[in-house]
Amino acid sequence: MTQAETSFDWIVLGAGPGGYVCALRGAQLGKRVALVEKRPTLGGTCLNVGCIPSKALLHSTEVLTAARDHGSHHGIGGTIEVQLDQLMQHKDEVVAKLVGGVRQLVDGRGITVFTGEGALAGDGEVLVRGEEGEVRLRADAVILATGSRSVELPFLPFDGETILSSDEAIALEAIPEKMVVIGAGAIGLEMGSVWQRLGAEVDVVEFLPRIAAGFDPEISKVAERIFKKQGLRFHKSTKVTGASHGKEGRVVLTAEGPKGEDLSFEADKVLVSVGRAPVSDGLGLEEVGVELDEKKRVKTDGHFRTSVAGVYAIGDLIAGPMLAHKAEEEGVALAEQLAGQAGHVNYFAIPNVIYTDPEIAAVGYGAEAAKEAGHEIRTGRFPIAANGRALATDATEGLVLVHADASTDRLLGVEIVSRNASEMIASAVAHIEYGGSAEDLARTVHAHPTLSEAVKEAALAVDGRALHSL
Ligand code: NAI
Repeated sequence: MTQAETSFDWIVLGAGPGGYVCALRGAQLGKRVALVEKRPTLGGTCLNVGCIPSKALLHSTEVLTAARDHGSHHGIGGTIEVQLDQLMQHKDEVVAKLVGGVRQLVDGRGITVFTGEGALAGDGEVLVRGEEGEVRLRADAVILATGSRSVELPFLPFDGETILSSDEAIALEAIPEKMVVIGAGAIGLEMGSVWQRLGAEVDVVEFLPRIAAGFDPEISKVAERIFKKQGLRFHKSTKVTGASHGKEGRVVLTAEGPKGEDLSFEADKVLVSVGRAPVSDGLGLEEVGVELDEKKRVKTDGHFRTSVAGVYAIGDLIAGPMLAHKAEEEGVALAEQLAGQAGHVNYFAIPNVIYTDPEIAAVGYGAEAAKEAGHEIRTGRFPIAANGRALATDATEGLVLVHADASTDRLLGVEIVSRNASEMIASAVAHIEYGGSAEDLARTVHAHPTLSEAVKEAALAVDGRALHSL
């Protein structure tokens, strides 16, 4: 390869939502960008084995539950059968289409893709080891966007067969009879729901006293009640302590219950979803002096600069919520900053969503966090059951909470449990983004009939004037 073919303005390591979006924005801004990715396809965890395939599976199983569990009510019936291979094929087609689309975008913008494992080699150099050997690249800026991987429990290493990470839980070839999910966060609740809908008995073991602990307790409680009705079994304040082989290839997990009692769970499949850790090893970081924090994340300043000049980091690899949209925003902000513009991420306005049915979504502060930040708050509540569209679409379970500062009425946070909460949250994000008030949200026209009207009503309720609840 000639020097011109290996010299770039920027090299981006990792083609997930952080990396490929950063590369796209850089190319838009006229930069010559190299994108290094070890997977054969672009899109990272999110598109290949995370957000997108899980959403395809969630949708397929929602189609199933709508027909199987609610069909007769609509005069729709008959025998419903699940063909798991077809369901998985649909998911694979969705992924293939999307990663192909990203490749088209990247190629169309003139970004050069190198397939292989990249590592810092000092002085703006990156060594890429691929199937066709090694190539040494050079650039003024190197952007680390290598993402994260699932965390193992020390006594329960992933084996890909029985002890699974989310990577395998999206690709099982048969429906397990008994599944234990360890961790009731985003992955545990989403994938636990998928397999429970398909017929598995699912026990969810959670270390903390509540599920979906990233949300307010009121939200956790409403969500837990709904998921329990759907058939998920929760074991909260319960700590898995060990594992042994059971009969017929099963695993037996031992655990300590809320009162210190001994519990055990037998399962054909165990999904360990206790969080993710940054991929900061094997990148030559220590060798060139890039500093890590206590969680092995790359330390950055407010401009994504690491401790080494010319090396930047974004996404799951650095502090903050491990969310694709956070990584994307950081990718854009960094690209703009490097190009001399004023790129910026408003971390307060990053929504957080769990894509169960109903979905759970939140932005800004929850009630507890708002109080901790020194606000006196007023909270408006609106039950989804009182929404007309919800009634017409079998989606009556859930609640909207709107928190506003008691003295200024500034919108501090919105939390939703509802079908389509992931879309409903967008209007709240917009109001928070420009520093709007609960009154602004309450006076914004929301189309009728939509579930989003429940957000408007909860905003009206902040001032005690919801129209469709007493
Ligand atoms: P998480 O951090 O969301 O939840 C992990 C849960 O496991 C917590 O409730 C924690 O208390 C519990 N836990 C930890 N150790 C435990 C133990 N030994 N026994 C029992 N419970 C234990 O992590 P998750 O679900 O694995 O997701 C990883 C990351 O990926 C998160 O940052 C999440 O936000 C992100 N993600 C986001 C999605 C979304 O936006 N919908 C979907 C999937 C993942």
